[in-house]
Amino acid sequence: MRRSSARAAELAPAPSTDDPILQFRNLSMDYTGRSGRVTRALDGIDASVGRDEFVTLLGPSGCGKSTLMKIAASVVRATGGEVLFEGRPLAKPTSRIGMVFQQPILMPWRSVLDNVLFPIEMMGRSPRKHAEQARELLELVGLKGFESAMPSELSGGMQQRVAICRALIYDPVLLMMDEPFAALDAMTREDLGIELLRIWSERRKTVLFVTHSIQEGILLADRVLVMTARPGRIAASIPITLPRPRGMDMVSTDEYGRYAQQIRSIIAGAGH
Ligand SMILES: Nc1ncnc2c1ncn2[C@@H]1O[C@H](COP(=O)(O)OP(=O)(O)OP(=O)(O)O)[C@@H](O)[C@H]1O
Ligand SMILES: [Mg+2]
Repeated sequence: MRRSSARAAELAPAPSTDDPILQFRNLSMDYTGRSGRVTRALDGIDASVGRDEFVTLLGPSGCGKSTLMKIAASVVRATGGEVLFEGRPLAKPTSRIGMVFQQPILMPWRSVLDNVLFPIEMMGRSPRKHAEQARELLELVGLKGFESAMPSELSGGMQQRVAICRALIYDPVLLMMDEPFAALDAMTREDLGIELLRIWSERRKTVLFVTHSIQEGILLADRVLVMTARPGRIAASIPITLPRPRGMDMVSTDEYGRYAQQIRSIIAGAGH
């Protein structure tokens, strides 16, 4: 038994660490509405996310960003093409991928701390052993003192921060975030963006981050994937070589301005 599995491992070599963590190959998605009308949300998506890379996915409302994230999280199944995760076809949800959705989706009957610890329970690990780590994450996102509060006592932005902690607690290889800061005020949003970069540089996680803010898309990214309006396609993949660590002061630099201009013209061009 052991021999045959060792043999199988020989025959199917482990993907090289140079391989992208996530790959979309000719991916398409058609939604069939109740009336039977078919909406093509994604069309021929070819894109990849490399190990330790921070990729932002930027595009107008309705272009299929959430759809793409849901496919990668195995929440919905694509109608065409394939997704490879760590070199293998992605078949089912995995704890190696952490997901922060556009809505926080917390359990209203559990405290903030217990919501953060929920994935640990689901994985059959001891929540008590991870409680300290959960408290540290909550402190990191400015929620110290709210550990025993219930979600209904928090603002929308605070709830979203709890959802971010919940995705970080089990240390996923790939962190996918779908407009996690959309419900936050501009100031908190900038602070959390910078904070996220700090976490990312410390822990070297691979991140795929959806936004429709050009500024957020550029400041966070190693590479920006620009999507066009429905049906969603990848119009450009733009490496961002602004120095790190990054801060809001970069927004006034010429280099930043050139990136913003380039992205705006791609989006505007694609609209015609
Ligand atoms: N469950 C669904 N059934 C039918 N159509 C859907 C469904 N979910 C999304 N769509 C359609 O697919 C398209 C893409 O939706 P999606 O939510 O992926 O866009 P998005 O880029 O995330 O937009 P936003 O920036 O507003 O969040 C839209 O036209 C939407 O109407
Ligand atoms: Mg969306």
